[in-house]
Amino acid sequence: MALTVDMDIKQTAEKLINKHSLSVDEYEFLITNRTPGITELIRSEAVSVRQKIYGNKVFVRGLIEISSYCRNDCLYCGIRKSNHNAERYRLDEEQILSCCDEGYDLGYRTFVLQGGEDAYYTDERLEALIREIKRRYPDCAVTLSLGERSYESYKRLFEAGADRYLLRHETADKEHYGMLHPSYQSFDTRMKCLEDLKKIGYQTGCGFMVGSPFQTARHIAKDLKFLEEFRPAMCGIGPFITHKDTPFKDEENGSTELTLFLLSVIRLILPNVLLPATTALGTTDAIGREKGILSGANVIMPNLSPTEVREKYALYDNKICTGEESAQCRQCLSRRMGSIGYEIVTDRGDVKKI
Ligand code: SAM
Ligand code: FES
Repeated sequence: MALTVDMDIKQTAEKLINKHSLSVDEYEFLITNRTPGITELIRSEAVSVRQKIYGNKVFVRGLIEISSYCRNDCLYCGIRKSNHNAERYRLDEEQILSCCDEGYDLGYRTFVLQGGEDAYYTDERLEALIREIKRRYPDCAVTLSLGERSYESYKRLFEAGADRYLLRHETADKEHYGMLHPSYQSFDTRMKCLEDLKKIGYQTGCGFMVGSPFQTARHIAKDLKFLEEFRPAMCGIGPFITHKDTPFKDEENGSTELTLFLLSVIRLILPNVLLPATTALGTTDAIGREKGILSGANVIMPNLSPTEVREKYALYDNKICTGEESAQCRQCLSRRMGSIGYEIVTDRGDVKKI
């Protein structure tokens, strides 16, 4: 029996490597029965795929956390609206532009504006902001990560110059989605937003947390199938990490090892995807981001937010890089990437067509 499982797992891994696609059952089988040997096989294939497309270059995105106000109440998130202990802040246009100025000098050519769903950021305000960033820095990409908005709003922001949009789908299983969110937040709306973004022409990113409460191997298998079918330009995955003031405070953190395995699997499913080694991965493991790059990731997203607000954008406990200046983060990451034979590049870092 053990022999059959061994044979099947090898065949399943080889099928993934050669065909870039598995059934949901096969993904589940691979996740459940992976061994250190299979993990290493998939990792080394993922690295060679990434190497062929992106070489040893790592793209960086300057992450500006523009607001910790949020109208949503995601059960896992430290800045959910029901967390009355969260300190709220928002950056105005001038503050955001000064982060961009600093980031440009540090070599960033993509700025990611991320925040809670904060009504202050109307289409008009965001359009003016995006236009000004593009006017100052026509050689930079603007990525938005501001949650769910209407088709019209996404379109206006795209027309103002935004290039990319990150909206994690969180889980591709509707029932599981319902366990992570209050009932007024809808799985169907989330999925429609992703379709809208793609239709409008954004380089669109989805993604999920690894080890979120109630998640099973079957759920992850469905996430992988969703990625295969949706074919995002970017995919953000990182371990779930507890936050002390959320209903999930007593849950377990997600596993670094499983996250790394999934980064490799995703690289094989979507060879040219822009795949970040996330801050959450650097939080569950001191060298998690390095391990992420060595598992097939090719992007890192250092923090460009003003130091005085960083602690307030606490999605989870013990988040790293909250005390450093932006320049320190940049140097630290160059050093970390250099230590594993990779190089941070000054580049917009668009998805390569293959
Ligand atoms: N409001 C926007 C949205 O919902 O897409 C962007 C901000 S939201 C904080 C960004 C991502 O952080 C979420 O998509 C979620 O996957 C991740 N996140 C939130 N809480 C987390 C936690 N406790 N552990 C790990 N990741 C978390
Ligand atoms: Fe809105 Fe987390 S609940 S950003």
